[in-house]
Amino acid sequence: MKRVGIIGVGKYLPKKILSNRDLEKMVDTSDEWITTRTGIKQRRIVAKEEAASDLAIKAARQALKKTGIKPQNIDLIIVATITPDMQFPATATLVQNRLGAKDAIAFDLSAACAGFIYALIVAQQFIARGTSKNALVIGSEVLSSITDWQDRNTCVLFGDGAAAAVLAEVKSGGIVSAYLGSDGSKTDLLMLPAGGSRLPASRQTIGKKLHYIKMEGNELFRLAVKLMLEAAQIAIKRAGLQAKDIDLVIPHQANVRIISAMIKRLGIPREKVYLNIQRYGNMSSASLATALCEAVEEGRVKKGDYILLDGFGAGLVWGACVIKW
Ligand SMILES: CC(C)(COP(=O)(O)OP(=O)(O)OC[C@H]1O[C@@H](n2cnc3c(N)ncnc32)[C@H](O)[C@@H]1OP(=O)(O)O)[C@@H](O)C(=O)NCCC(=O)NCCS
Repeated sequence: MKRVGIIGVGKYLPKKILSNRDLEKMVDTSDEWITTRTGIKQRRIVAKEEAASDLAIKAARQALKKTGIKPQNIDLIIVATITPDMQFPATATLVQNRLGAKDAIAFDLSAACAGFIYALIVAQQFIARGTSKNALVIGSEVLSSITDWQDRNTCVLFGDGAAAAVLAEVKSGGIVSAYLGSDGSKTDLLMLPAGGSRLPASRQTIGKKLHYIKMEGNELFRLAVKLMLEAAQIAIKRAGLQAKDIDLVIPHQANVRIISAMIKRLGIPREKVYLNIQRYGNMSSASLATALCEAVEEGRVKKGDYILLDGFGAGLVWGACVIKW
């Protein structure tokens, strides 16, 4: 089995900033409530003409540029998204075409906020076994398109964005260990009820606002702390390491209080955690991807460092992996 690592990262965040102050004018909320309960100060929102593939392509181009690999030499494209351009075909095929990655196989992966980590581990299998020599893994979301902008319980939490990673065989380091988990008994905690084959779009589903995110925040909060902690502990153990050996934790950015509770139990100090939730809110599959990209850009990740990626999302799905940079 080949050793697989991340050899380049890139991101794209839409230009429009929606601040907590802006939200105060839209729903009954306050900057103080949002900041203290979630850690979010602002989020990005797409322009009218932008869809998930547009964001994904920009992030992918930036990541490819860092590696010097030309799109036509990419073997595999996975787009992790819950807000694809269309229900089908896969957003990944739209990305493949517009990038000019004509030899790549391309598909979407639906694992909500754990989408990026799931896609990384799937791509790792393709490369480790020699099925693909490299892969472009992208998390891209336009959550503003499925957000009820009149529901203060959810609309303050989400944002739009994309980030990408290029994976290939590496001589040293790379993905050292991983753990993925799923629990389909808790689907009702976070979902988009209509628009699929269960409840196709109709006047009734639109009238009942069933095309927007429905969420049980409190229960999700508790489970996110528990399951992200478990995933981190298993991934660290599988890597033959201890929590103190981890140089940087890059968690899914849903709520700063979830992250604080999780790392406290894990025994990792706050200085070793990368946060960008204050700038972008929760961007589902794009959150972890963007946080990884920015941690690299800011020099928070150095060669030889052990990085822990840790994600959790609707499904439920969750997972963690340790990467030696
Ligand atoms: C959603 C979340 C921020 C709510 O925070 P909380 O501290 O648990 O707040 P509660 O749900 O207990 O609500 C407390 C009060 O604030 C109110 N409230 C909710 N949203 C509000 C907002 N944007 N502004 C002001 N008040 C708000 C509630 O109506 C409630 O009022 P009540 O006590 O009069 O009923 C938090 O539960 C959370 O982050 N959960 C996880 C969500 C998540 O991670 N989702 C994605 C998974 S990947």
